[in-house]
Amino acid sequence: MKYILVTCKEALEKAGVILEDIDAIAVVNGPGLKGSLLVGLSFAKAIAFALNKPLIGVNHIEGHIYANFLDNKKIETPFISLIVSGGHTSLILVEEIGQHKVLGKTRDDAAGEVFDKIAKYLDLGYPGGPIIEKIALNGKKDAIIFPRPLTKTSNLDFSFSGLKTAVIYFVREKIKTKEKLQIENICASFQQAVIDTLIHKTLSAANKYNIKNIVIGGGVAANECLRKTMLETGKLNNIMVYFPSKELCTDNAAMIGVVGYYKLSKGFSDSFDLDVFTG
Ligand code: KG4
Ligand code: ZN
Repeated sequence: MKYILVTCKEALEKAGVILEDIDAIAVVNGPGLKGSLLVGLSFAKAIAFALNKPLIGVNHIEGHIYANFLDNKKIETPFISLIVSGGHTSLILVEEIGQHKVLGKTRDDAAGEVFDKIAKYLDLGYPGGPIIEKIALNGKKDAIIFPRPLTKTSNLDFSFSGLKTAVIYFVREKIKTKEKLQIENICASFQQAVIDTLIHKTLSAANKYNIKNIVIGGGVAANECLRKTMLETGKLNNIMVYFPSKELCTDNAAMIGVVGYYKLSKGFSDSFDLDVFTG
């Protein structure tokens, strides 16, 4: 234990962190993969113990929501938050800071996951989102009409596995008939199907709850086409739409620090019994 504490202190000092400036240690304790969460949480506990500072557990999804506050301090509650990452696709009603109600989530693949899986299937590389976005720039978004899953239902859940299968079947058929694969058109049409679905559901949530602010976050929120279309849709519907800057969309430590800050300013901290949660 003593060795861990000394190592933590040394590591922080080497990174140029002035220990006296730290008010608390915020750490993600879920949702996610148990092993990696445990590594992070144990390290955070050791630092908090060594520095005698409060320990604050942060929900990863909350981090993505509140990343927006690093760029926009004026976001007003209530707002609808759409979190689109590699592990999550969720619509959340935030009535007040820290008060969340999940309105809908994906029943299978997350939006980022489906970008990654399609890119893998097409042998394009990883992570799929930025690669597909780049290739899609040279394609036609209406070249192929892929399904917009669950957009004809009134519930606010998502499902992307059917869209993934539709793309795979389309490609298989082209290979079978020896037709040329127009990867640019496939990427642009697939990307558009994801974007249309995300925007349709988010707008439905805003209309259903009569909310005038939408806050987006997560890796997929870095997608320029999603950003542009969502901002245009907001303008048309008299709704304020917020995105974090692109570097704050994908996983980052600053977004966890923001949630830690809000919790600390409300006097909240966790005990050293804090555990991880996976789902
Ligand atoms: O939030 P994040 O960094 O990690 C998770 O919490 O999962 O999100 C990573 C996901 C990946 O699936 C990646 O393909 C996707 O975000 N992503 C994008 C873009 N940049 C990252 N998806 C679409 N367009 C992008 N530009
Ligand atoms: Zn994330």
